[in-house]
Amino acid sequence: MHIAVLGGDGIGPEVTAQAVKALRAVAANGPQFEMTEAKIGDAAFDAEGDPLPERTAQLAERADAILFGAAGTFDSDLRPPEQRGGHALLRLRKRMDLFANFRPVFAIPELAGASTLRRDVLKNVDLVVLRELTGDIYFGQPRGIHVEGGERVGINTMRYTESEIRRVAHAGFQAARARKKKLCSVDKANVLETMVLWREVVTEVGREYPDVELSHLYVDAAAMLLIRKPADFDVIVTGNIFGDILSDAAAMLTGSLGMLPSASINAEGKGLYEPVHGSAPDIAGRDIANPLASILSAAMMLRQSLGQPEGAARIERAVRRVLAEGYRTADIMEDGAHLLGTEAMGDAVAKE
Ligand code: NAI
Ligand code: MG
Repeated sequence: MHIAVLGGDGIGPEVTAQAVKALRAVAANGPQFEMTEAKIGDAAFDAEGDPLPERTAQLAERADAILFGAAGTFDSDLRPPEQRGGHALLRLRKRMDLFANFRPVFAIPELAGASTLRRDVLKNVDLVVLRELTGDIYFGQPRGIHVEGGERVGINTMRYTESEIRRVAHAGFQAARARKKKLCSVDKANVLETMVLWREVVTEVGREYPDVELSHLYVDAAAMLLIRKPADFDVIVTGNIFGDILSDAAAMLTGSLGMLPSASINAEGKGLYEPVHGSAPDIAGRDIANPLASILSAAMMLRQSLGQPEGAARIERAVRRVLAEGYRTADIMEDGAHLLGTEAMGDAVAKE
């Protein structure tokens, strides 16, 4: 099994190194992995003049799975796309057609004290936001800023083809089938034609999954219910822009961005696994970033792309044990807990 390791920028390489440690620990008495590192993001632009060098892209395509850190920094975010570290990730997603973005959100009882929400609301939260990642208003044409009638007009186009909706709907039903068998499709069919089609196609696909309970919500209602009764959800399937917003909101249910893993998968089941957070330039280079999101992303990779559910479970159990023993990074620190840096947290998980 070959894993491409793309640490990227800021805290990306720091947290990815801890996930690599966890994978090595699993490999010590289990499946063997070959891991190859390559540059991406600002690091690649600075070294080679391209945030996504062809060599890196080909390595990613050849590998069985990709472990990714973060790309971009606030400085490079303002440059033209071809010089922007963060743009490398968009290019890689598009190039590998990684259309299905899974973001699990789960209550960690060991961490209940770190959340700002009420414990009884958070109890039993175990949901997945499935965000379509390669279509929608982020890519639809026409787009741009034009002058019309003497003033500037900004234009974007919400666009989905039937086949784009169908494939992400299938991914959603299949994910629900493997979990609590409930799929909630989120749209805005009351005002958007694109979303009328979305609801129709999801409903059609649903006839192939009689064992999965399908419901529909408008995105505004979904936002409210996610905060009010998050434990009611299983899998939420939605388009790119709604998924972007809802998944960040859902992320805060469990306390810190530093805890949340994600997977972006294509039709062949190949995937890019990364923490939900970015490069966090404000804390980079100080050994204080929480590596658990990256470590849990490696667990998702073992389960979803590499056929190693046992290895995935071992990593997840190790994370819970380390938290249960009272070890914390700064972002999830509580009274009476033991503070660890990035490296030390990575070592603790690998040891478990
Ligand atoms: P961010 O997720 O990097 O940071 C947001 C806040 O959360 C910061 O205060 C940061 O210190 C904290 N944080 C994030 N991860 C953490 C961790 N593991 N442990 C402890 N604290 C953590 O988002 P921000 O600040 O909006 O973006 C920073 C840069 O990252 C930007 O250049 C942005 O374009 C890029 N970015 C890249 C992403 C990716 O590669 N997938 C995703 C999001 C942002
Ligand atoms: Mg986002």
